[in-house]
Amino acid sequence: MTFFTEPLLAIETSCDETSAAVLRGPKILSNIVSSQEELHRKWGGIVPEAAARAHVEAILPVITRALEAAGVDLDGVRAVAATNRPGLVGALSVGLTAATAIAYARNLPFIAVHHLEGHLCSILSGLEATPFPNLSLIASGGHTELVHVHDLGRAEIVGHTLDDAAGEAFDKGARLLGLGYPGGRAVQEAAARGNPARYLLPRGLSGDTANFSFSGLKTAMRQLVEKEGDQISVPDAAASLQHAIASVLSDRTARTAVKLGVGTVCLVGGVAANLELRRRLTAECAREGLRFLCPPAELCTDNAAMIGLAASVRLARGERHDLRADVYPNADLPEG
Ligand code: KG4
Ligand code: ZN
Repeated sequence: MTFFTEPLLAIETSCDETSAAVLRGPKILSNIVSSQEELHRKWGGIVPEAAARAHVEAILPVITRALEAAGVDLDGVRAVAATNRPGLVGALSVGLTAATAIAYARNLPFIAVHHLEGHLCSILSGLEATPFPNLSLIASGGHTELVHVHDLGRAEIVGHTLDDAAGEAFDKGARLLGLGYPGGRAVQEAAARGNPARYLLPRGLSGDTANFSFSGLKTAMRQLVEKEGDQISVPDAAASLQHAIASVLSDRTARTAVKLGVGTVCLVGGVAANLELRRRLTAECAREGLRFLCPPAELCTDNAAMIGLAASVRLARGERHDLRADVYPNADLPEG
């Protein structure tokens, strides 16, 4: 894998995290993430206008902190990257405007990055051998996708959720159990004290498919909470929910890799921070003789370092993007 070897500043603001990172080659010198969790907690979900406003307030201090932590000043930066798709339009605009303004003022090369390509590249730091081709499970708050990655920029979606994303299933389950927002980490913490065999929950689609469905799980959770009332054991329900999600994700991912004849499996996206999912997929891959890659938890949830890793490979290939790049709320993964 070839990387851009000079200091690169990367920015990510597609959803509710304002993040800036400085990289040199595949080495992450700093990765600052300012979360809006507190802000959105009172509404129980992300309010786009509030997210955009909070990005405006956070962006310059976050960039300053990233440069300071890396020990690089703006004069030392040699390229700039930002997420421009998909995501909340107002949120994306803040990061993209900051990045293109810096690139314009300093005459630096610029790369616009697809958010999911960033997640796919979160495994690239510290790797000895090439991770391509691989089968990547991207599991986040907005996406659950099985992607056959031939190379960076050559990705084929071979499976996806037909309804809710895995992260949404965690978040909605957490809300039903009164565990708050965002739900994934809260469910994991409650589940640590629970019995996953206590409540039987559906796994969605069965049979020979690479797709997922989590809407039945959400309905079953609601019915469970209504039926059990005050008698419900929150740790047991959280453990049962986590077990249902982690087992279907890990079984189907390993099975699809074997079917496609792909020897490497990657687990990325916010839900990849889940310890039970990491443990199960590690075991499945070991059983099937597959190499398993998963970034540290801080590179699973949204962050600018993964955007920088994707940009670094594209810069090293000689790519440069126009500073008039736009933002797109929806966009397919680059396939070619
Ligand atoms: O990738 P991400 O930070 O943002 C999106 O691009 O969506 O993913 C956020 C999702 C949320 O649904 C959150 O509940 C989930 O990742 N998440 C977790 C854990 N940490 C974050 N889910 C399960 N277990 C965790 N430890
Ligand atoms: Zn994400």
